[in-house]
Amino acid sequence: MITNKKSTAIQAYRARILHFIDNPLSNTDSPYEYFEDGVLVIQDGHVLHVGDFHTLSECLPEFNRFKTTDDHIIDESNNQITSRNQEITLEEYPNHLIIPGFIDSHIHYPQTQMIGAYGDQLLEWLNNYTFPTEQHFDDEDYASDVSSIFLNELLRNGTTTALVFGTVHKASVNAFFSEAQKRGLRMIAGKVMMDRNAPEALCDTPETSYQESKELIERWHNVDRLQYAVTPRFAPTSSPEQLHKAAQLLDKYPSVYLHTHLSENQDEIAWVNTLFPESSHYLGVYDDARLVRKRSIFAHGVHLCDNECARLAQTGAAIAHCPTSNLFLGSGLFDLKQANKHNVTVGLGTDIGAGTSFSMFKTMDEAYKIQQLRKEKLDPFTALYLSTLGGARALDIEDKVGNFAIDSEADFVVLDLAATPLLKFRTEFCQSLSELLFALNTLGDDRLVAKTFAMGQCVHDRDGDNL
Ligand code: GUN
Ligand code: ZN
Repeated sequence: MITNKKSTAIQAYRARILHFIDNPLSNTDSPYEYFEDGVLVIQDGHVLHVGDFHTLSECLPEFNRFKTTDDHIIDESNNQITSRNQEITLEEYPNHLIIPGFIDSHIHYPQTQMIGAYGDQLLEWLNNYTFPTEQHFDDEDYASDVSSIFLNELLRNGTTTALVFGTVHKASVNAFFSEAQKRGLRMIAGKVMMDRNAPEALCDTPETSYQESKELIERWHNVDRLQYAVTPRFAPTSSPEQLHKAAQLLDKYPSVYLHTHLSENQDEIAWVNTLFPESSHYLGVYDDARLVRKRSIFAHGVHLCDNECARLAQTGAAIAHCPTSNLFLGSGLFDLKQANKHNVTVGLGTDIGAGTSFSMFKTMDEAYKIQQLRKEKLDPFTALYLSTLGGARALDIEDKVGNFAIDSEADFVVLDLAATPLLKFRTEFCQSLSELLFALNTLGDDRLVAKTFAMGQCVHDRDGDNL
């Protein structure tokens, strides 16, 4: 029930509403809440209430007495809200579904310009496309332009939070955080640490990477909605000394993240084995450097052994599963069943620019197909959980975003179920919520996203001006 705690404006959004309370694979009786005719009520950028529209009207009779002027509804009765001179705005979205903003648990903003680079698998792809592209990001103006395009693209796709790679340049991270801050977004990012096996222009040293990361942490970590991730690119491009420096940063700043790649491609794994012969496996390289912890997020984990999975689960570290990237680079088919068996925390990532779409719908679609090729199933509830609350859990921010729990930050998307003629035709035919979600997962893309909100502010309007 609404209790009026504050004296600022209230916004209410009426539509179908779906959000997750828990993992569908847990034993929770109802892991999600779904309101066929729901209302999401926001105040001061936070969730005040979510529920059934008519139940809310009964709890709060004043809600029915609001009078519409244009698209505003103003309470004319003499109730508590008007006595505080408040205005309530009600936006109604028939045939739309409101869900929490998507969470992309692994993405590279500097690779926006090189999505869809032809013909290579991971190591050649890095040398031929990625490293040349990333060399431009010592220029902060250039990095700001790309950050802006990247963030707008995320918002057009309904993604409100992401864990983001910069490049080795400090300027790349300053530019990215400045653009994210302007838009009021919750973002986690960091400067790449890379001191070997890469072009000279992209290499730092253990000392400079420590110092520059430290300066960035002190400037940006926990400023507004921004958080910092210590970001060694992957084991082959960091010396053991640099990995130890990364651990020192985590010791000094325990609430920052560790973000890197793990066990993506067979040639990469063989290379890691020759570079770190003392370590028992790929995860062991990071573990030996004390980098496997809660708030450590490892992209891919396509070829993990049971011991690696057990260790990830034991430490509370997470895997970011990136299906479009794994297919595009021919890296392999992620074993979700194995991860679940070991209780490894998993989020979904696009991994742009090896990933081929900013859309979490496209990402869920490919995740489903990967499990099909493994003769396994990924049901649409679990897929949507992984893209919202599951991602928030992987990033340890579930107290802030990922669902519509009271007081959480009001990041959400309004999905247009009739966005295309085919979607309209297909969704009208759906007999159950499960069928509807699966149709959206399979057919959906950026066109589904009518509006995106961050902290209750509209940050993307498909049919309006570019905000
Ligand atoms: N491994 C190391 N760097 C990268 C990268 O930029 N993209 C992907 N997909 N894998 C990596
Ligand atoms: Zn990546």
